[in-house]
Amino acid sequence: MGVCAGLLYAALFLATLRACLAEEPRNPPSKIAIVGAGIGGTSAAYFLRQKFGKNVQIDLYEKEEVGGRLATLEMEGKLYEAGGSVIHPMNLHMKTFVKELGLSPRSPSDNLVGIYNGEQFVFQESEWFLINIIKMLWQYGLNFLRMHMWVEDMLDKFMRIYRYQTYDYSFSSTESLLHAMGGRDFTAYLNTTISETLEKAGFSHRFIEEIVTPAMRVNYLQGGKINSFVGSVSLAGTDSGLWSVEGGNSLVCTGLLYASNSNLIRGTVTSVQQKTRPLKSGDTVTLYEVNAETESGSQHVLYDIVIIAAPLNKGLSSIKFLNFDPPIKTFTRPYQQTVATFIHGQLNYSFFGCPEPCPNELSAILTTDNPSLFINSIGAVSPVKSTGGGDPSKSTDLKVWKVFSPEPLSKDQLHLLFKSYHAVRSKTWLAYPRYSPPEKLPPIILHDRIYYISSIEWAASAMEMSAVSAKNVALLSHHQWHGIDEKVDQENILEKIKSEL
Ligand SMILES: Cc1cc2nc3c(=O)[nH]c(=O)nc-3n(C[C@H](O)[C@H](O)[C@H](O)COP(=O)(O)OP(=O)(O)OC[C@H]3O[C@@H](n4cnc5c(N)ncnc54)[C@H](O)[C@@H]3O)c2cc1C
Ligand SMILES: *[C@@H]1O[C@H](CO)[C@@H](O)[C@H](O)[C@H]1NC(C)=O
Ligand SMILES: *[C@@H]1O[C@H](CO)[C@@H](O)[C@H](O)[C@H]1NC(C)=O
Repeated sequence: MGVCAGLLYAALFLATLRACLAEEPRNPPSKIAIVGAGIGGTSAAYFLRQKFGKNVQIDLYEKEEVGGRLATLEMEGKLYEAGGSVIHPMNLHMKTFVKELGLSPRSPSDNLVGIYNGEQFVFQESEWFLINIIKMLWQYGLNFLRMHMWVEDMLDKFMRIYRYQTYDYSFSSTESLLHAMGGRDFTAYLNTTISETLEKAGFSHRFIEEIVTPAMRVNYLQGGKINSFVGSVSLAGTDSGLWSVEGGNSLVCTGLLYASNSNLIRGTVTSVQQKTRPLKSGDTVTLYEVNAETESGSQHVLYDIVIIAAPLNKGLSSIKFLNFDPPIKTFTRPYQQTVATFIHGQLNYSFFGCPEPCPNELSAILTTDNPSLFINSIGAVSPVKSTGGGDPSKSTDLKVWKVFSPEPLSKDQLHLLFKSYHAVRSKTWLAYPRYSPPEKLPPIILHDRIYYISSIEWAASAMEMSAVSAKNVALLSHHQWHGIDEKVDQENILEKIKSEL
């Protein structure tokens, strides 16, 4: 220590100083709490274990089911994906998890898409590739091609995060994370609606209304007024090669929980409180007490680091922060209600203005922003377990359909949508933020060592976004614990990585 201190005062040889510090690293934290066992919390557990090593105790609190918004729903003995369902082929964290956990990907059934405006179909895909191309060109000129290029460019920038994270770089706010990926473009996307941004970029009004808006309505239940960042994530959801996890996406969460060797505590965290404790040396240390209601009663445990992996919005987590100055605010902005209804039955194509028998048996219907519509989308789905007997959504006449709507469907509405049906199940979610640019993102650092993974949802909510934020928080908490400032909020990281090689 003496040599190190001497160098410190002289502040002479930075490299030597680093070597000294490396010889006498601060002890790792002894306990870390994570609140929420969705993909955000479980992937955080996984990355924290990688960063802090095998001795730290990691406790994961979960009040409902492991998986959170990744959950299946059972109907007639089969399971269907009721929450987060599709994953983009370039979502590298999700891809790596599935591989490392020994799970397998499943490709969803190919759907013929129609876009309904409340009176008629404004666009209908056909089974013939060439016909589709001609239709697209005829109706929208080069807009489809340009959209593809626009999404491609966004993805290229987004992919930079994986390189930063591989080299241990972290960010202390979601804005700086976005800025490191896509510069001012990305942060400006939080301030404008996707419609405005695309209109400015020269996309036609018709294309935005008939193609872009329906994509927003199916993915986030909100139209073209959502921020451009989440808008572009949503557009990437129209790419080909989307996939899900065989057996259910939530298997990733249970797998990560197991692989991270953390303790699952079933219970509701009610509050987090700051506590100061004396040390033997005469100094004091600040710890966080996590209070939870568990099956076996109230529990109060002290932690070095606390990670919140659940939205702190009203009706979602109800965690109080006690004894903090300045106080830690919870957030009041609302989440969007989304009802996923599964129906085993025969679709009433005439409801969609298509005379029976409808010439194109569409298997996915998206909608434009028409206030008279009570559904946002409807699409044929397959169970999460492949049966091996071909695509069940095609082989039987009666398909299972998944409808997204803001409100539960009434019996009358079901009778309009279906000629007949024999099974219905539904699940109501507070699904994702209600976006309204300019977007003010919540902080990642809520207090010295309390971190908030769900901050990123206000840029865009998706499984991969939670995983990206979880890895960022694991790196950030590690670097802050060990005082590794050169890996936090750096500019020109790509240049730095090159010089590190
Ligand atoms: C209908 C729907 C469709 C979607 N479609 C897609 C899609 O196709 N692709 C995609 O990528 N994303 C999709 N998403 C979004 C995606 O599901 C979410 O972004 C992601 O699952 C969020 O994960 P998370 O871990 O951050 O949060 P959550 O999954 O919400 O996890 C938070 C967990 O914390 C727990 N919790 C909360 N408060 C407390 C407390 N006080 N004490 C203890 N535990 C607590 C909750 O019970 C929950 O399990 C969809 C979401 C919905 C609802
Ligand atoms: C976005 O808007 C906020 C105010 O809401 C402003 O402070 C910020 O500079 C804007 N960002 C960009 C990149 O335009
Ligand atoms: C089907 O849709 C048409 C047109 O909206 C409607 O008149 C009819 O009642 C619906 N239901 C059935 C069972 O045909």
